[in-house]
Amino acid sequence: MTIGTSVDRALEILRSGGLVGIPTETVYGLAADASNPDAVRRVFAAKGRPADHPLIVHIADAEQLTHWAAEVPPAAAVLAETCWPGPLTLLLPKAPHVLALVTGGRDTVGVRVPAHPLTTELLTRFGGGLAAPSANLFGRVSPTTAEHVHDDLGALVEYVLDGGRCPVGVESTIVDCTVDPPQILRPGGIPSEQISALLDGRVAAPSGPSRAAGMLASHYAPAARVLLVDDSAAALSLAAQYIDAVVIDRTDDLVEYARSLYADLRRADGLGTSVIIAVMPSPGGLGHAIRDRLTKAAH
Ligand code: TXA
Ligand code: MG
Repeated sequence: MTIGTSVDRALEILRSGGLVGIPTETVYGLAADASNPDAVRRVFAAKGRPADHPLIVHIADAEQLTHWAAEVPPAAAVLAETCWPGPLTLLLPKAPHVLALVTGGRDTVGVRVPAHPLTTELLTRFGGGLAAPSANLFGRVSPTTAEHVHDDLGALVEYVLDGGRCPVGVESTIVDCTVDPPQILRPGGIPSEQISALLDGRVAAPSGPSRAAGMLASHYAPAARVLLVDDSAAALSLAAQYIDAVVIDRTDDLVEYARSLYADLRRADGLGTSVIIAVMPSPGGLGHAIRDRLTKAAH
């Protein structure tokens, strides 16, 4: 694998059906031409991802949305208009040409416009959509630097476009706009409160068995055992019981907590620690997504 900043090189690989690691504001994606079945198959093979877990289609701007979605309900139009480019994925009825491989055989498609200058340039010049899951091995913590992508997929992917450290650090918020009211399926980089305010409160929280495929209880898991506590004092007294515990506690700054979370988990694993003790933030704003990922890491 080569790590570099050449959009030309990335384009050349994507146009010939290859895979490229791409930076986004949330986490790095493993991108393939969404209209090329062989390329999309390579994504599943590289990640070791089950075929029924659909991929998000990344597009350059909101104008391309009608190419991928058969219908854009008013709520989706409002969210796209206000939140894109940004950490929001909309689930919509898929246009007929969208590959079943991309949607996991469903009649819906997940679409988002990422906010990262290198990837915006790449998408604009590419012209089409890029199907991209997070660029980690299946079930592992998402990558927030090009080195993380290299660590997971080094032997399997030719090129990673290096856009530095992802500024948001947790994945996009997924909103299912095929139901009324729309439902948040995955808390993420855009707080639920903001989605709710934009839709005048007409939004359902994640509830029951989530209908987003692949939302397994155990996901985003480091190798070490993760223990969750409610405050710093509890973290310290628990840590005293282990010889090699790593404590993660950034509850005083949730933006930094989200940005550093996956790198912190990877670093602790790199040290060979057996226990990670993480302090849960309160649930408001980004706290919702951080709590969700920590809970999954601890499962
Ligand atoms: O921030 C993000 O969303 C990152 C960056 C790379 O864009 N991508 C990401 O992709 O997190 P992935 O594949 O790791 O997670 C996407 C989730 C999966 O749980 C997938 O099953 C769900 O979205 N999903 C995608 N399309 C769907 C669809 N049509 N119906 C139901 N769930 C869908
Ligand atoms: Mg993922």
